[in-house]
Amino acid sequence: MTPSSIRPVWVGTSWKMNKTLAEAATFVDELLAVPIPSGIQVFVLPPYTALASVRSRVPEDSPILLGAQNAHWAPEGSWTGEISMRMAKDAGATLIETGHSERREHFGETDRTVARKAAAAVAYGLIPLICVGEPLAVRDEGGAEDFVRVQLQIALSELAPAEISQVLIAYEPIWAIGEHGIPATIDQVAPVMALISDVVTVAAGGPVRAVLYGGSVSTQNAREVLSDPNTHGLLVGRAAWQASGFIELLKLCAPLSGAGAGQSTIYSRTLPWTTTAALL
Ligand code: PGA
Repeated sequence: MTPSSIRPVWVGTSWKMNKTLAEAATFVDELLAVPIPSGIQVFVLPPYTALASVRSRVPEDSPILLGAQNAHWAPEGSWTGEISMRMAKDAGATLIETGHSERREHFGETDRTVARKAAAAVAYGLIPLICVGEPLAVRDEGGAEDFVRVQLQIALSELAPAEISQVLIAYEPIWAIGEHGIPATIDQVAPVMALISDVVTVAAGGPVRAVLYGGSVSTQNAREVLSDPNTHGLLVGRAAWQASGFIELLKLCAPLSGAGAGQSTIYSRTLPWTTTAALL
């Protein structure tokens, strides 16, 4: 049995710096109007400004998880412009994205801050979604796997094995992301996904929650990417910013999930996991 047949397929979108409250509400209403295909674990990462309002529109028992695109490691304090894990959780986040290449490039995110944020997220009972991925020059020199291995090892360095097994990893080659991104081929993706699988399995002492691929995912390449046995889901930007595009992707991915095998665990907004540290 392949890993993707014993887990849900995770399909999520980060809205990045997009959507007013009204636009966010329109998206959510359109998404809620269609049944979520079974076997798909859906998540949406709105901007902070829309997180609480999206949370209030999504029913408690909905299988749509929400998350923040970033949050600080400190519990509170003088960190102008930041929000804490506690605040993100209070606003409706279950997932905390960390280490996205746009944050690394433009906002000084480093492997060390990613590690601190991943640990803080876990301490608050949140799921870190750790993004890793190499620049084009590194890939061209044949260094993609070494680059990602180091990013990953540092990102996981503050977590215990049991905590590592709870994280989500997203492999997003920088050159594949965004408007000018070149969609990666399965041949380029598969070896890195295998490497990630090895690194996290050793670090966690078993399988992790899921490893996703992101970077110019669309209806054109989603199924091909998910045919890789080490790829358990998709992190989608532009192709999912309209609800119709997101819904199309969810339907496309449904046949690739473990639905029917009776082994997929789909989480709802009411979390089955708890806070692990007395930080609240
Ligand atoms: P994209 O963004 O799908 O628009 O390339 C993906 C991401 O940055 O996570």
